[in-house]
Amino acid sequence: MKQMSASCERNRDPILAVLREVLPNSGLVLEIGSGTGQHAAYFAPRLPHLLWQPSDLAGNHDSIRAWAAEAMAPNLRAPLVLDLLAEPWPIAHADAMVCINTVHIVAWAGVENLFAAAQRLLPPGGLLYVYGAYRYATRPLEPSNEEFDRWLKGRDPLSGVRDFEAVNRLAEQNGLKLAGDRAMPGNNRSIWWQKA
Ligand SMILES: C[S@@+](CC[C@H](N)C(=O)[O-])C[C@H]1O[C@@H](n2cnc3c(N)ncnc32)[C@H](O)[C@@H]1O
Repeated sequence: MKQMSASCERNRDPILAVLREVLPNSGLVLEIGSGTGQHAAYFAPRLPHLLWQPSDLAGNHDSIRAWAAEAMAPNLRAPLVLDLLAEPWPIAHADAMVCINTVHIVAWAGVENLFAAAQRLLPPGGLLYVYGAYRYATRPLEPSNEEFDRWLKGRDPLSGVRDFEAVNRLAEQNGLKLAGDRAMPGNNRSIWWQKA
């Protein structure tokens, strides 16, 4: 039942370092697209002052639960079924939202729903953090990410590396202000916004 992602093992510490810096001192963090559950199981015990709420499509829950059972972190909640393409959402409030490597997977309508939900769920000053590959109008996409984009679109034409500017526009339309954008290993980015 426990699925394993090698990229999670590689990126968890660089991501955790940013999360330690940007997440609030208390409250509930809603993770969207928790995948195998490895990130949740790694982050929750290391951020014991926060309540970690994983979520994903139901098919991933067995693995999320299996990783959580090993982590034995009292601040790690059972996963929620959360489909970015479906309404209503199973949760009405979060102090912060974290979405790792999912914006380039879900169809654009799901990205729109993510930002609309951030406006709805977060308190003023609340944080939305995303991690993944992004294309910037000001510079060429890295060859590794060009290849990744082709691979994603070959699998699902509705997926693909997103334009930072388009995503940031969505954020602004939903009352979120860019608060950070940082280069990460493997040509990935950590980007975060704060609700005004
Ligand atoms: C590339 S994986 C990333 C998983 C994990 N965050 C990580 O970094 O390893 C993308 C995740 O998006 C989830 N996903 C795909 N479509 C979704 C949707 N419509 N709503 C919510 N999650 C979705 C998948 O189930 C998968 O867990």
